[in-house]
Amino acid sequence: MTARIDILQGDLTRQAVDAIVNAANRKMLGGGGVDGAIHRAAGPRLLEACRQVPEVEPGVRCPTGEARITPGFDLPARHVIHTVGPVYGGRPRDAELLAAAFRASLALAVDHALRSIAFPAISCGVYGYPLDEAAAVSAEVVHERDWELDEVRFVLFSRDVFAAWKHAHH
Ligand code: APR
Repeated sequence: MTARIDILQGDLTRQAVDAIVNAANRKMLGGGGVDGAIHRAAGPRLLEACRQVPEVEPGVRCPTGEARITPGFDLPARHVIHTVGPVYGGRPRDAELLAAAFRASLALAVDHALRSIAFPAISCGVYGYPLDEAAAVSAEVVHERDWELDEVRFVLFSRDVFAAWKHAHH
């Protein structure tokens, strides 16, 4: 089953899919950017659910490149898959960690028998990842295997990010 890939400009918090992916930080207790938007739209129960996620080391619930799942609460999406992308530093490891974040999110969705997932441009805001490089990483990962999903959406908030994703996923 080859997943359909949709690239669209819009608001991730409005997507009625099985899971939206949050570009979180390792503490997983909210933040700005899309993390803040998701918590605002999901309501306070999301923060409570995040607090329940065990720390794997002091102050770290989700290491960079890994993913955790919670319910979506007040969001139209049933679940939120929280992942942590790398802070861009121009190192080869950055692309490996960004790929790992996309991959862990897809794998977690498949593990939970979800059929549709929507991503933001992970690491492309506060974490400073160059748009074209991040978009290329996302395309490589989504095509690296036959993910048992019906639909993978990339939901980009701004025109420049949308253009980068359209170009990378042609
Ligand atoms: N829908 C879709 N995309 C959005 C939305 C939204 N509602 N709001 C912001 N974005 C976009 C940003 O424009 C950017 O292109 O999500 C992309 C990711 O940017 P950030 O949210 O800043 O995420 P990231 O760069 O991964 O930095 C993560 O920021 O918010 C904090 O707690 C978070 O510490 C973590 C860090």
